[in-house]
Amino acid sequence: MAPRLTPRLETLARLVPPGARLADVGTDHAYLPAWLLERGAIPRAVGTDLRPGPLARARETAERRGVADRLSLRLCDGLRGVAAEEVDCVVIAGMGGETILGILAAAPWVAEKVCLVQPMSSLPDLRGGLAPLGLHVAREFLTLEGETLYVVMELRAGAEGPLTAAQRLVGREECHRGDPLWPRYLRQEIARTRRALAGLERSRRPEDDRRRRELAAALAEMEERAEAM
Ligand SMILES: C[S@@+](CC[C@H](N)C(=O)[O-])C[C@H]1O[C@@H](n2cnc3c(N)ncnc32)[C@H](O)[C@@H]1O
Repeated sequence: MAPRLTPRLETLARLVPPGARLADVGTDHAYLPAWLLERGAIPRAVGTDLRPGPLARARETAERRGVADRLSLRLCDGLRGVAAEEVDCVVIAGMGGETILGILAAAPWVAEKVCLVQPMSSLPDLRGGLAPLGLHVAREFLTLEGETLYVVMELRAGAEGPLTAAQRLVGREECHRGDPLWPRYLRQEIARTRRALAGLERSRRPEDDRRRRELAAALAEMEERAEAM
């Protein structure tokens, strides 16, 4: 019996369309493609990683789980070693938002695929950096692991107009529609923004002044949304 996926990886697995050929970027242990291949949910997958150590772990998982013949493992940066024609769905999970943006920018063909990203940091930079790449967030899926909320974003082709400061911090509200974890996420980000503002209170640096105004605007918008819930 294969081990269960963590809730974060389970959310991603649920969003990979059945029958899709998957590219899992930064695959590390290759738990996600191995799990999907083992169940016959997908026919084949490519797993990439920048470093040999994680790729060796991926190979170990693939062999142990009997999916090595359907999982092609490649040492490369992002999607540089993957051809657009090989895949229908791209997952980039467990990395910083800036790294994810760099990987997307180097592979413009992702716009034609189902593209799922799960950033660990710099979420506002990622949301705000998609438009120049001709992408936008169509849906966001929240998932709770212990006390940590993770965000999975489903990207689509087409740039959107500029996001407000609050939309960069928590995403557009319509992307979270019906999600039971949305109120908790919004409260968490309000508390985080209040702490950041308090930290900036005594600073006299001009760049902090701009940041303070931006955060204050985001806070007011998020508080308004929370009151309307
Ligand atoms: C924390 S692990 C995430 C593993 C798995 N994707 C997950 O979400 O559980 C991040 C992995 O991404 C790899 N990585 C970081 N930057 C990368 C890049 N530009 N291209 C490919 N892999 C990368 C790291 O070597 C590491 O194995």
